[in-house]
Amino acid sequence: MCAKQVTKAPKAEVGTTGHSWDGIEELNNPLPRWWVWVFYATIVWAIGYAIAYPAWPLIKGATPGLLHASTRADVEAEIKRFDDANAGIKAKLVAADLTAIPADKELMAYAEPAGASVFRTNCAQCHGSGAAGVQGKGYPNLLDNDWLWGGDMEAIHTTITHGIRNTSDPDARYSEMPKFGVDGLLEPAQIDAVVEHVLAISGQEHDATLAATGAQVFAENCAACHGDQGKGDRNVGAPNLTDAIWLYGGDRDTIKHTVTYARFGVMPAWAGRLSEDEIRAVAAYVHSRGGGE
Ligand code: HEC
Ligand code: HEC
Repeated sequence: MCAKQVTKAPKAEVGTTGHSWDGIEELNNPLPRWWVWVFYATIVWAIGYAIAYPAWPLIKGATPGLLHASTRADVEAEIKRFDDANAGIKAKLVAADLTAIPADKELMAYAEPAGASVFRTNCAQCHGSGAAGVQGKGYPNLLDNDWLWGGDMEAIHTTITHGIRNTSDPDARYSEMPKFGVDGLLEPAQIDAVVEHVLAISGQEHDATLAATGAQVFAENCAACHGDQGKGDRNVGAPNLTDAIWLYGGDRDTIKHTVTYARFGVMPAWAGRLSEDEIRAVAAYVHSRGGGE
């Protein structure tokens, strides 16, 4: 109400700013008292705040303020508090016999959630969250019980520590499927035949005559790594070709592509990026899901 009255005050009392637009004049009303006081209060508050808290940017950082408040230091202290609280169990995890970890309730109570969080941060972008089974071509689902290189604690630990086919770790797991097509190791007809054989052993629709020729090609060129029966070989990370789980894909075109160009799945080494207790925790987590051996 008050504001309304002021606006309505006769021109003579408050005067105008002298601005006039199409005959509309701007009255020079004083600012409401309460507004002016709030305005002054914010200035006083700002000065007080700038003295008490970090405020003015300097070349490195900012003025610290009399209270030396630092949310960054708070976080560091908080992290240290948790690290200290977990130091004992981490040391135990690192000292434990790898194969004994899964059965140790106390260690697993720590390793599972810790490993799950390492997994979400460092592994899920390639391996998927696991639960929904969504992950890209060439990135194995780790939470099932199908293993390329081995699913016991020691094998998983080695894979994570050194990685696969990377150039940074000389102990990385390594193998290389030949590029049968582009390197001319097999004729196109032989490739077509062996593809039918792979379709046959994986229980899919196939051309039986071609597959019979393909069986011979397979025995001569593929069995060394994938095994006589096509069940795979963990020493060289060669996948089982007879199950329904595919790394790159089990349809005719994808198999042909794999045989023609080969694949070369690379996984980084984690030693050096993760601490030993983190590697063990995530190994235990992966082992505990679905199909640790
Ligand atoms: C940059 C992508 C990438 C990241 C990140 C990654 N991996 Fe992998 N990982 C791969 C690929 C690719 C393979 C399969 C390689 C092959 O063809 O043998 C693999 C394979 C594995 C295997 C072997 C699976 C088997 O069947 O034997 C394990 C275990 C594994 N990764 C664990 C992890 C863990 C744990 C992390 C996180 C600390 C991780 N990986 C992060 C790409 C990745
Ligand atoms: C030197 C070992 C080696 C030989 C020989 C070999 N492979 Fe492989 N093969 C592998 C490895 C290792 C992989 C895993 C993919 C990778 O390289 O990342 C693989 C992957 C595959 C895949 C993909 C499976 C999937 O789950 O998507 C198919 C299909 C396949 N090989 C078929 C063949 C056929 C057919 C032959 C023979 C013409 C052959 N391989 C010979 C090592 C070998």
